Amino acid sequence: MLELKSLTKRFGDKTAVDAATFTVDRPMMIGIIGRSGAGKSTLLRMLNRLSDASDGEILFEGREISSLKGAARREWQSRCAMIFQQFNLVPRMDVVSNVLHGTLNRRSTFATMFNLYPQEDIHKAIEILDRLGIAEQAPKRAEALSGGQQQRVAIARALMQDPSIILADEPIASLDPMNAQIVMDALRRIHEEDGRMVIANLHTLDTARRYCDRVIGMRDGRIVFDGRPDQLTTGVARDIYGAGADFSEAATSTAIETLDQSNENLVLA
Ligand SMILES: Nc1ncnc2c1ncn2[C@@H]1O[C@H](COP(=O)(O)OP(=O)(O)O)[C@@H](O)[C@H]1O
Ligand SMILES: [Mg+2]
Repeated sequence: MLELKSLTKRFGDKTAVDAATFTVDRPMMIGIIGRSGAGKSTLLRMLNRLSDASDGEILFEGREISSLKGAARREWQSRCAMIFQQFNLVPRMDVVSNVLHGTLNRRSTFATMFNLYPQEDIHKAIEILDRLGIAEQAPKRAEALSGGQQQRVAIARALMQDPSIILADEPIASLDPMNAQIVMDALRRIHEEDGRMVIANLHTLDTARRYCDRVIGMRDGRIVFDGRPDQLTTGVARDIYGAGADFSEAATSTAIETLDQSNENLVLA
């Protein structure tokens, strides 16, 4: 399905991503882990073509993605939706309009200028918000929502594009443990129910272990681990994070697990 061949990104004499190579043969949920500066964001940005590779190739269903230009590149970007740590919503705009922004690249400038959305798209946006448990927030301004709700709006905006792949760059890094869990559960459900591939950069080991089918570990731009979560031993983690003997998993944990123990009956919207 997706194939990366020696994908490389250089900034001057710094190699941010160094010959990243892997193949994904079916839609799965993949976590990319590593310390800050390991190259995780740069890798996602190249996949989405927000950033051009210095070298190497990206193939999706046999088609070369890394050289797409103009409309073809924009079409790829809508099949490969991206969500970010800081949500990137328009704060003063209402939630539904933020979600409808996900259809922007297939609408005319005129329609966009006057905020004209087809009725059908508005219904679809509300349905998606409902699926994510936040339909009642639809008329509110985005800035009035909690971080966890805003991230779900960003996921809704991504789903509006009906993407094959969802790329999430540290989607829960700004959230408290409870909202982190709600957002990760939503991504997992979207993967399982819709069969979409999800690739998420995750700062923390426990989240990757808990939610992902496959984990890719990066260190200094290189992929140093690629395997199942259960293969991710403390030794391997130490290698990925480059920590010494004092490496502690607690340092890379979000405490979702702890939350679980204290909140067994938590019912998610
Ligand atoms: N636009 C840029 N210009 C120069 N260096 C960059 C740029 N973006 C990222 N880098 C460098 O590339 C490396 C990888 O960064 P990044 O992909 O953001 O890592 P991560 O997301 O894992 O924290 C870092 O050393 C960072 O400083
Ligand atoms: Mg990053």
